[in-house]
Amino acid sequence: MRAIRYQAHGGPEQLRLEEAPLPTLCPDEVLVRQAFSSVNPADWKLRAGWFNEWVPQIFPFIPGADITGTVVAAGPLAAGFAPGMRVAGMVPVQQGGAWAELVPVKAPALTRLSDTVSMQEAAGLPLAGLTAWTALFDLGLLRPGQKVLIHAAAGGVGSLAVQLAKIAGAYVIATCSADNKEMVAALGADKIIDYRVGDFADGLGEVDLVLDTIGGTVRQRSIAVLRPGGTLVTLDPTPPEPTLTQQVRVATVAVAPDGGRLLHLVHLLATGRLRVPIDRVFAMEEAACAHIHSQDGHARGKILISIDATMDRTIF
Ligand SMILES: NC(=O)c1ccc[n+]([C@@H]2O[C@H](COP(=O)([O-])OP(=O)(O)OC[C@H]3O[C@@H](n4cnc5c(N)ncnc54)[C@H](OP(=O)(O)O)[C@@H]3O)[C@@H](O)[C@H]2O)c1
Repeated sequence: MRAIRYQAHGGPEQLRLEEAPLPTLCPDEVLVRQAFSSVNPADWKLRAGWFNEWVPQIFPFIPGADITGTVVAAGPLAAGFAPGMRVAGMVPVQQGGAWAELVPVKAPALTRLSDTVSMQEAAGLPLAGLTAWTALFDLGLLRPGQKVLIHAAAGGVGSLAVQLAKIAGAYVIATCSADNKEMVAALGADKIIDYRVGDFADGLGEVDLVLDTIGGTVRQRSIAVLRPGGTLVTLDPTPPEPTLTQQVRVATVAVAPDGGRLLHLVHLLATGRLRVPIDRVFAMEEAACAHIHSQDGHARGKILISIDATMDRTIF
């Protein structure tokens, strides 16, 4: 099968389109023929060796976490899946494997896609959508009427978080650059702050929840806008300075596959309440360009990889 692989840590030039051995299937797994996958920043951080200390990699490594395609075969313990079904799901980023024509996926990490959901849109949903959901609801305990500040609202996670927070009845304050204001307004944000002009914290008042997608000084300044007892949910695994967080709750997201939760997100897509903004779709041959585009740090929504676009026969 064709797969994107790398044989050593390094720059985007390490990514090669190669012939790889067919994967074997465990009894609790489903073999998926991939239509699309997406880029998540963790893919290139892993490739560059940023996570070596925690996640030693075995080479050759196939990157990618997001799964969208059709079922080729289902193991005897993968109940509910049969050949030909359209599915979406996720493999753990550190395990990788999604940028290949065939991917074995644990059955509980998958969900069925109805014929009305485009595979392109679904490919941008699993990792970013599960991250946004975990941050806002599992860790952030967001309730209707609360004020939430969402950083990088035009990015993969942020663009979904803005919409999910609005669906939950929150007042959403979003940061992005001027070029993306229109896009973020269309997602439903109530107040939009251009993070390049002045200090985003000026005149903001107290907020109940911050979704920190940036870390560093942005996170430090965000803590100051939380009400006492408010919550900072961060995607940055580096713990914040304890002296700054005495009056607030702090929680860190470590996203994990969850087919049940994904089913709910897919339902929101199918009913038109949620959409996945697509920045650009790259061919497998352009895998290095896709990583470079993500590394530039200015994605508008999700960056996709097309593995077999002919499979996306969505019925509208
Ligand atoms: N812990 C976890 O489980 C987990 C899960 C998912 C993601 N993450 C991490 O979370 C981060 C965000 O992920 P993502 O997929 O959303 O990334 P992304 O799609 O690459 O984010 C790109 C966006 O960031 C915006 N941005 C850059 N600097 C900004 C700033 N100072 N203030 C506001 N917006 C800014 C850009 O907006 P402009 O173009 O307008 O500048 C762009 O729209 C990444 O570091 C990723 O590794 C962690």
